Amino acid sequence: MAQTNSSDSYPLPRDTSETDRLNEQHKCLVGAFGFRIHPSIPVAEEKHEFRVADVACGSGIWLTELATKYPQAQCDGFDISAQQFPTSSDLTRDCGDRVRFHAQDATAEGGYGKDFEGQFDLVAVRLLHISIAGAQWTRAVQNAVALLKPGGYLQWIDWDPHRAHLVQSRPLVEHAAIDKLLGFFKKFLGALDTRATARLPEEMRTAGLADVRSELWALDADLGWREYFLKTITTVLPDVIAKRAGQAPGGAGDGMDWVGIKAAAQEEGKQEGLWVRTEMWCHVGRKSL
Ligand SMILES: C[S@@+](CC[C@H](N)C(=O)[O-])C[C@H]1O[C@@H](n2cnc3c(N)ncnc32)[C@H](O)[C@@H]1O
Repeated sequence: MAQTNSSDSYPLPRDTSETDRLNEQHKCLVGAFGFRIHPSIPVAEEKHEFRVADVACGSGIWLTELATKYPQAQCDGFDISAQQFPTSSDLTRDCGDRVRFHAQDATAEGGYGKDFEGQFDLVAVRLLHISIAGAQWTRAVQNAVALLKPGGYLQWIDWDPHRAHLVQSRPLVEHAAIDKLLGFFKKFLGALDTRATARLPEEMRTAGLADVRSELWALDADLGWREYFLKTITTVLPDVIAKRAGQAPGGAGDGMDWVGIKAAAQEEGKQEGLWVRTEMWCHVGRKSL
């Protein structure tokens, strides 16, 4: 399949460090949720073959782990950019021909095409919030639902970063630099429609899913996630914001001492009793028979 254009709106770096970050994030997410497939989805319980699609799969780590765990799974990963897909030699060695990756825009008007539509027992989407806006959400849900067989499941894990905020469990904790970083992060996301993640159940029902279940998880209850996320905020985010500010001289963040803010944020992050509240939705729905 031809590779479509990459998403210019994606605000995190696109290189091997981003692949490493996604893989580490995946481990922390699985640790915090405690599952790859929500326990209400029975597709993997029986031994017979099932087909899984991972939409906006990034490095494909969720999908390749699933293929390793379930030898009866046939897996297809889709992402707008092939940049982070595993190499075909790695894939063949680890999973034979059971895992394939395709460059594909989740919001494309024509969907995924006849070869894929109606083929999957499970379609999973994780963390697409930052990349799509407005009517693209509706299209992404419709396209994902079109991939499902009757009776198949859509699992969509996502969040609204505007809801992230610092909390503390001790008095007199310093957090001015981390507050500043979170504030700029939200400012950069301002034009995007990240709040739509809470509207997904409605979109899922309209697109033909039944038994839609929505769970809002406090991921920061998990200490591994708490530590990972604070590290991301204090180490990755300052560089991303500084780069953005440099690309838009005179705009938000231009002229700020980002090196100093990063150093201060890292010091603040070492304190006991300070973390970022992160809530993430897990929405699950089933296509009617
Ligand atoms: C935050 S990453 C999440 C990757 C993966 N789902 C995970 O949880 O590790 C977001 C991914 O969405 C992809 N993406 C952005 N816009 C997209 C679109 N319109 N269609 C398909 N993928 C898209 C990006 O290329 C990136 O790999």
